Amino acid sequence: MKLLDFSNRQNRDVRIEDVTPEYLQYIEQLRQSDDWYPTYHIAPKHGLLNDPNGLYYHEGKYHIFYQWFPLGPVHGLKHWYHVATEDFQTYEDYGIALAPQNDFDANGCYTGMAWNQKIYYTGIDYQDKEPNVCYCEIENNQLINKQKLFSRNPKLTTSEFRDPFVWEHENQIYMINGGQNLDLKGCITLHVSNDGINFTDLGLVEFNTDNDIYMIECPNYLRMQEKAIMLYSPQGLKAKNKYDFRNVFSVVYTIGEQLSQQNLKFNNTEAIELDKGFDFYAPQIFTGENDKQILIAWLGNSKAEYPSDKNQWAHMLTIPREITVVDNKLVQKPLENLAQLRKAAWTVTEPIHFLTSQSFELELCGAENFEIQLANEVGELISFKGNHDEYCLDREQMSVCYNEQYGLQRYARRQSISEQIKIYIDHSSIEIFCDGGRTVFTSRFFIHDWKYLHVTGTKATGYDLKNLIYEPVMK
Ligand code: FRU
Repeated sequence: MKLLDFSNRQNRDVRIEDVTPEYLQYIEQLRQSDDWYPTYHIAPKHGLLNDPNGLYYHEGKYHIFYQWFPLGPVHGLKHWYHVATEDFQTYEDYGIALAPQNDFDANGCYTGMAWNQKIYYTGIDYQDKEPNVCYCEIENNQLINKQKLFSRNPKLTTSEFRDPFVWEHENQIYMINGGQNLDLKGCITLHVSNDGINFTDLGLVEFNTDNDIYMIECPNYLRMQEKAIMLYSPQGLKAKNKYDFRNVFSVVYTIGEQLSQQNLKFNNTEAIELDKGFDFYAPQIFTGENDKQILIAWLGNSKAEYPSDKNQWAHMLTIPREITVVDNKLVQKPLENLAQLRKAAWTVTEPIHFLTSQSFELELCGAENFEIQLANEVGELISFKGNHDEYCLDREQMSVCYNEQYGLQRYARRQSISEQIKIYIDHSSIEIFCDGGRTVFTSRFFIHDWKYLHVTGTKATGYDLKNLIYEPVMK
């Protein structure tokens, strides 16, 4: 069967209704044939996944939506796809939750979030491709009563304006959006409402950012006791040393004063890069069971082709991570519920361990000089190592390298020698939690037929992890 040619940009607007069921089956089969497809991460059955959207926990269930272009591994017409789970293993599969089919979102249902059983998202307008802040309600696990709330304010931003995030404070409902101001610099707008429907623009949040930033996407706002954290995805940041901002786009957080109708000055600390790996973007934070703050991100990044694209799927979501703030730093730990995915444990006793699965969790004992490698028979590998001062994730010897212009190594300064390191590996993804969750590397890697784990300088325990199960829900 002939595949859609996405080098012809018009094909990114082809609608799912315009292809045959056989076409969708064909691209799903291609995806099924791909050895790099994960088994315990959420990934698209075909097409491209990007940002996590609309995350919420309700009546014992975690609802997860994501940006989805169904027809291929490119950024085309965006839908929201919906799955829900109680245990992070068995997922109800609700399929498409938002489709670009109204005048106010016909060019894409872009990123948004859930607040108080309502969804706020960006719709790209049918007429002029302008962004609209849109809204719908959650009822019986469905998104209903979709409508447009307001358009961008041309006195505040260019057409680069999107990704609403909403919270309540002192009986007012506040919203921020990411954008680009009229000087073509990244900005965040603030809006206020009494009813969550009618919003007034308050203006641009005054905060310190790097002058190279030309756009801000996916802002999140998290209240702490007296202060607040803003977490966002800036575009334009340049690498300043070997440790920071090495990817095309990064994710940062900064701490400042709580925003309100009376206070648009965030008065913030220096922005810190949240993740040190190659593939991490557009995270979203939400409140889970027992008021835990949970973060899920897109385990991918823009502007790169990935080796698995040829099989018509792209990207996955990260594992859910519990976040806390310790000494003004964001700490990320794999959500405890993931322990339910564990099968038998194994210990690595020899320097070379033969793996029987490509989906597992590893615990490394703290050690000063250590290295682990995942490798195949012909010596193609990925390596992660540490010494007294720093960590290094090295993708130079993979079977297929990509995105080389951004470098093949990522480094982070080391903060602790003794703490255990936890690593989650799933066919072509690796998430490494060091320094008790203060340093995290999230990445893809592409090695053909890898089956060896080399461990030097430390001891490791592994747990194979169960596959996700999807149960389709009839609507
Ligand atoms: C971030 C982003 C958002 C936008 C969405 C579109 O990756 O560009 O700003 O809403 O993806 O898919």
